[in-house]
Parts: sequence; C-alpha cells; structure tokens
Amino acid sequence: MAKHPFHLAWFLSQGFGPKSWRSAWSGADAGRWMMPDLFIDLAKGMERACMDYMIIEDSSMLPYTYQGSHDTYLKYAASTPKLDPAVLVPYLAQATKHLGLVPTLSTSEYPPFLLARLVNTLDHVTEGRIGWNCVTSSNDGAAQNYGNDAQRPHDERYDVADEFADLVTKLWEAWEHDAVVLDRDRPMFADGSKVHPVFHEGKYFKCRGPLNAPRSPQGRVPICQAGGSPRGQAFASRWADTIITDGGGSVASMKAYREEVRQRAVALGRDPDSIKVLFLAYPIVDTTMAAARERRLLERQAAEAHMDMQLSGMSRLTGIDFSKFDLDMPLPELTTNGHQSSLAKWIGKTPRSIVQSYASKAGIDFTGTSDHVAGMMQDIMEEVGGDGFLLFNGYFDRRYIMEVCDGLVPELQRRGLTRKAYAHKTLRENLLEF
Ligand SMILES: Cc1cc2nc3c(=O)[nH]c(=O)nc-3n(C[C@H](O)[C@H](O)[C@H](O)COP(=O)(O)O)c2cc1C
Repeated sequence: MAKHPFHLAWFLSQGFGPKSWRSAWSGADAGRWMMPDLFIDLAKGMERACMDYMIIEDSSMLPYTYQGSHDTYLKYAASTPKLDPAVLVPYLAQATKHLGLVPTLSTSEYPPFLLARLVNTLDHVTEGRIGWNCVTSSNDGAAQNYGNDAQRPHDERYDVADEFADLVTKLWEAWEHDAVVLDRDRPMFADGSKVHPVFHEGKYFKCRGPLNAPRSPQGRVPICQAGGSPRGQAFASRWADTIITDGGGSVASMKAYREEVRQRAVALGRDPDSIKVLFLAYPIVDTTMAAARERRLLERQAAEAHMDMQLSGMSRLTGIDFSKFDLDMPLPELTTNGHQSSLAKWIGKTPRSIVQSYASKAGIDFTGTSDHVAGMMQDIMEEVGGDGFLLFNGYFDRRYIMEVCDGLVPELQRRGLTRKAYAHKTLRENLLEF
C-alpha cells in the first residue's frame, strides 16, 4: 500500500428508486427497479473494488416546489419515487461480506428511539457493517407528511440533530459490552446491572431507554454527515466519522474545507484523523480520452435539453421555484431554509450556466481513460491531503458499475492508492485502517 492510500465510497444518488430508465443501457429489467437486483450488482461491484461503503440517499416526499406542481418530478422520475432505504440494506448485506452499508435516516422524521433501534438491528444482522447517514430534512413537503407545515429554521434543525445524536448514541451504548451472559444454570440471559436506562430529558426529546436489544457489534455505529453550511460543519465536526462533501468544486476549496472541519474537531477534543472526509466525484471513464469526452458532452447536451428537470432539482433542494427566473439573467440575492451551501454557489450566475455545470455536479472534471482519471485522483489527494472520494452517478447502469469497479478502481489499486483486500470486519475498523 502506498504512503497515502485513500478510501472510496459510493453515493447512491436518488436512493432506492428507478435508475437510468431512459438510457441506452437501462437493461431489460428497468421496469422492475423496485427489485434489489441492480443495487445488488452495484454492491458486489463495490466489494470487488474493496470500497468502504455505499450511502443510500433518501427523502420522504413527492416534491412539488417547481411550478408548484409535482408533474415535472414525476415526468422524469426526478427524486421520486423512492422506496425505504432501510429495507434494501439486508438484501445488499446478504449479497456481500465486507461492504459498509449506510442508509439515510432523517433526524426530522424518525423518533430517536425508533432510529436507534432500527440501526442497532441492522448492525446486528450485518455483523457490524452499518453506518448512519444523518441528515436534517430541508424540504417543507416532507414536514407536511409528518404533521407540520414547514421545516424548522435551518440552524435549529442542527440543534435538534445535536440532541438527537446525543440520545441515539446513548441508547446504542446503554448495554455494556458484557451485559449478555447466556448462563443457562443461574439462569442469566443478561445481567441487569449492566443495562442502563438513559433517562434523557432535553429540549426536544424525552426518552427513558435503554434499548430493548443488546449492544450491536459496533455499538456506536459510524455516523456519516454532509453539512455544508457553517452550522452544518459544526455538527459534522462533532458527530461524523465520515464527512461527505463536494468540497466547493476546486482543489483549493477542498483543502480549505477539510482543514476547517479538522480544526473544528480538534477544538471539540476529537482526533481529526478519526474523521474521513470524502469528496464527491463523478468520473466518466472510457477506452480513449476522446470517447470519454464525447460521453461527457452527450450528458451535458441531454441536461440542457431538459432544463426543467435540472431546475426542478435546484428547486427541491432550496424550496425556491426556479421556473420564475429568466434563464439568462444572473440570479439575485436569495435566501433559503433548505440547502444553504448549494444556493450560495448559484447566486450571481444565470440559471442556464448553473444547469450546465450542475449536470457534472462538481467543478472537477474526472473525464478520460482509467489511467488519466486515476492520475487526477492521485494528484488531488496528494494536494488536498484528503481521505478519499465518494463516487456517484445519478443515472448509473450496469455498464457504469463495471467501468468504475473493474476499470478505474483496479488502476487506483495498481498505483497502490486504494485497498486490494479488506483487513477488517466492521465498517468502523475499515474506515480507520488508514
Ligand atoms: C453527498 C451528499 C449526500 C447527501 N445525502 C442526503 C440525503 O440522502 N438526504 C437528505 O435529506 N440530504 C442529503 N444531503 C444534504 C445534506 O444533509 C445537507 O443538508 C446539505 O449538504 C446542505 O448542508 P447544510 O444543511 O449545512 O446547509 C446530502 C448532501 C451531500 C453533499
């Protein structure tokens, strides 16, 4: 292994939903997207490539921000429909042995006890391969499905999440390591003196505890977080074991982001090396540079041909209806109770230019042969001092899985940049391996 190996994970963008149903490589079973087969193929590919974990994105509403209607979202299957990510996890776990599985579960929707119990159960049945993608929900449509009119103010959502994470981690650790005795003669299944109610009474939650299940293999499961705003970063620095971010789209901003969260972690008494910061990357690899560039161009043209689809995505993230703006006029100052860090990057740009760069998601263009893209990744990690990449492609298909897992990653492995075999059993141990 090289001096600075890095981690790889995969962001299952748009969650447990239909993928690439309009593309040339959608497969014969595209209409059966609700069956786990394609996702199992991805999980197996990722495990061949020795990646750390798969995050399954989620949200729980049918969006209607764009033009005040759900039509555009349904027309493109854009961010909807989505099935429950926690149900997909056991299927992926059965098909793999080492891969970490990280469902998205929102602090705005789950009661803490229910979430703690679900994650504890998943960690038991996967023998320690679960992580929690901890998000605060930003879209009012989701709030309206859970008895509220709107989401709480942005920063307060993170106050709630702080208390939520505190309570959930206490519940995960309420049974001591040796609480289960399994002594048939006494008899003593579990020792009551080693199981502790949590008696939590905070500003937002009240819970007696303990969990009605033993400590799971990881106990406190790894927490994944994507806070981009200052308040979000403060939350991530406190709780996250792995942070996922676009890093601002340039090598300099990636470096600054990572240094910022590491400094915040140190200020909170944490070891910054225990937090793995992974940067979003959307590679397009092909046999020649020209072939890869052609594909990137075709994707961009497809995005521009369906401006409404891209604009509806921006609307969903921010709660702002982008159908109201002229495509070629710079956006005025706007505020959002949704994704503040995304909106901050768009102000002053025209919607058309945002859509053009939105199609490639991040500022860094990972397009080319496996050798070229692996070299870029190597250079960037050396410069940033980073912990790795979070690969993603919203419309991935089986061809894409193979290109990345059997083309790009083996090139990274040949360079000694990523692992060739799993050294450990649990997600946390694999994350902390380097
Ligand atoms: C890679 C990545 C994955 C994310 N996954 C989800 C998700 O599955 N569900 C969700 O509600 N938000 C998700 N988010 C949004 C973040 O939780 C967060 O709200 C966003 O990055 C904005 O940061 P802020 O809340 O600090 O402004 C994701 C963000 C990123 C960068």
